[in-house]
Parts: sequence; C-alpha cells; structure tokens
Amino acid sequence: MAPVSLHPLFSGGPRSSLPGIVIDRLLVERIRVSFELIRSNGHKLAAAFYRRLFERQPRLRAMFTQPLEIQQQKLFASLETIVRFLEEPASQRSYLRELGARHAEYGARPEHYDIVIETLLEAIDESLGGRLEPIIANEWHQVLRLVSDFMLDGDPAHHAHDGGPPTL
Ligand code: HEM
Repeated sequence: MAPVSLHPLFSGGPRSSLPGIVIDRLLVERIRVSFELIRSNGHKLAAAFYRRLFERQPRLRAMFTQPLEIQQQKLFASLETIVRFLEEPASQRSYLRELGARHAEYGARPEHYDIVIETLLEAIDESLGGRLEPIIANEWHQVLRLVSDFMLDGDPAHHAHDGGPPTL
C-alpha cells in the first residue's frame, strides 16, 4: 500500500477539535466513496433528514421553505461542499466563510450545527438501511464538525461567544 501522506489541513499541525482522527488522503477517499453511495440513495436521505430534523426541532421548519426536491438538491450541494473542501481545502476556505455568513442570514445559529450534524448522520444511516459503518460515521462526524467550524468563522454571532476563529 502507498504510504499515507498528511492532508494539507494538517500542514500547520493537528487541530484540537479533531482529537480522534487524522485527515489523510485515505480518509478523503473513504469519504468520497461513502458520499457516492449516499448519493445513490439520495431520495431516501432527504426525506429522512427533514423528517428527523423537524421532529427534533419543529421551529427550524420555517427556515426550509422550498419543496422537498429542491431541498434535496441543497442537501447534496451541502455534502458535495464538504467533500470538495477535503479535496481542496485551500481553495474552499473563503467559500466556507461566506457560506457561514449566508447561514447566519438564513437564521442558522451556532447551536444548530450539532443538531444538524447528528440528524444528518442518523438520516444517512437510515437511507443506507442501517449499514453506515461506525468508523465511517465517526469520520463523517469529525469532518462535518470541521466544516462547521470554518463556516462559523464567517458568523459574527459565533465570535461574540468564543475566543475567535478556528486555528490551523
Ligand atoms: C456542515 C454544515 C452545513 C453545510 C456544509 C451547509 C451547506 C449548505 C449549502 C451548500 C446550502 C445551499 C445554499 C447556499 O449555498 O447558500 C445550504 C442551504 C441551507 N442551509 Fe445549510 N449547511 C450546513 C448547516 C446548516 C445548519 C446548521 C442550518 C440551520 C438549521 C442550515 C440551514 C440551511 C438553510 C435554511 C438553507 C436553505 C435556504 C434556502 O432554502 O434557500 N444549514 N446549506
């Protein structure tokens, strides 16, 4: 097997919010493969995600005004954004800050991110018939949290409560 090379995200040293995993090329490949599998079950994912999200947080429903088909496209745009960020972190950072600032305008608050992440992981597992492997689920979780940190860097409400932008 080829030697594992560290992902450019780690060029400045490991990140404290990612205690459990190292983002290397193999992880990025696993996430890409997993994403393609998830995409092939896409119709199930969107239905499961929005059903679970609105059960958990009924007040969020008002934020999502588009028909399910359009929301499904946005959900996959979100996942694609995450995978592309892993594949090309340098070119995606400013995009994620802008995406985070737009989210603040949509009404997304910092505390919503963990709810969305947990709901998404449950919905992915459901859409795959309960076959999301725990190791891959954990990697998705860490990656979603990392992307959320970069998005929140663009959200002024977040900086009012914490010490500042994420450091790499
Ligand atoms: C990992 C975290 C997230 C990612 C990568 C993500 C990504 C995206 C993307 C790519 C879009 C398409 C529209 C655009 O580019 O502005 C979108 C739309 C949207 N997101 Fe997120 N999102 C995340 C978390 C959240 C959270 C925590 C909320 C709050 C509950 C949220 C609420 C929304 C809403 C309401 C829209 C659609 C607005 C509309 O209908 O036009 N997102 N998201």
